[in-house]
Amino acid sequence: MPATIEAVEGDITRQDLDAIVNAANSSLLGGGGVDGAIHAAAGPSLLAECRELRATRLPDGLPTGEAVATGAGNLAARWVIHTVGPDARRGQTDPSLLASCFSSSLDVATQVGARTVAFPAISAGVYGWDVHDVARVAVQTVREYVNGTDQIDLVRFVLFGARAHEAFAEQLS
Ligand code: APR
Repeated sequence: MPATIEAVEGDITRQDLDAIVNAANSSLLGGGGVDGAIHAAAGPSLLAECRELRATRLPDGLPTGEAVATGAGNLAARWVIHTVGPDARRGQTDPSLLASCFSSSLDVATQVGARTVAFPAISAGVYGWDVHDVARVAVQTVREYVNGTDQIDLVRFVLFGARAHEAFAEQLS
């Protein structure tokens, strides 16, 4: 059965799926946007797990384009998959870096056994990418990924606002 890929308008912290993806920064120590919302909803245990990652596996932080899983604290999801999008403000405009956020996050989902995954529009906020470019890269990458595996059942893009939702819906139509 091929995986379902869908786009909805909403708040990613409200998604009752196996894993939700966080648009983090390399420090993994929280921030604004999706990062701030996920940490606020998950509670302090999420930051504690991220601090533990920094103290052990990721002493220099999480590199752009890579992904790592933690628990999800008080969230309905079982895992939060943290990834770091490319930052256009710092000249990181290479689409393959953004594509890697989506494919690496699905690799991590597969590794932990998460079959349903929610993504935000990574890099389309503070990191300054145009949401239409993000939608194109995200949908292309996820389509290619799910066509090559039977480990993923659902990928849901969860978008803030009509413009972002339309950008993704257009790519999925
Ligand atoms: N649910 C879904 N989408 C959200 C939510 C939410 N609760 N909050 C924000 N968004 C949307 C934004 O509107 C934007 O379209 O997520 C997209 C990504 O925006 P950011 O969260 O700013 O992420 P990004 O552009 O990748 O920048 C990452 O911002 O929050 C800091 O710590 C983070 O330094 C990192 C940087």
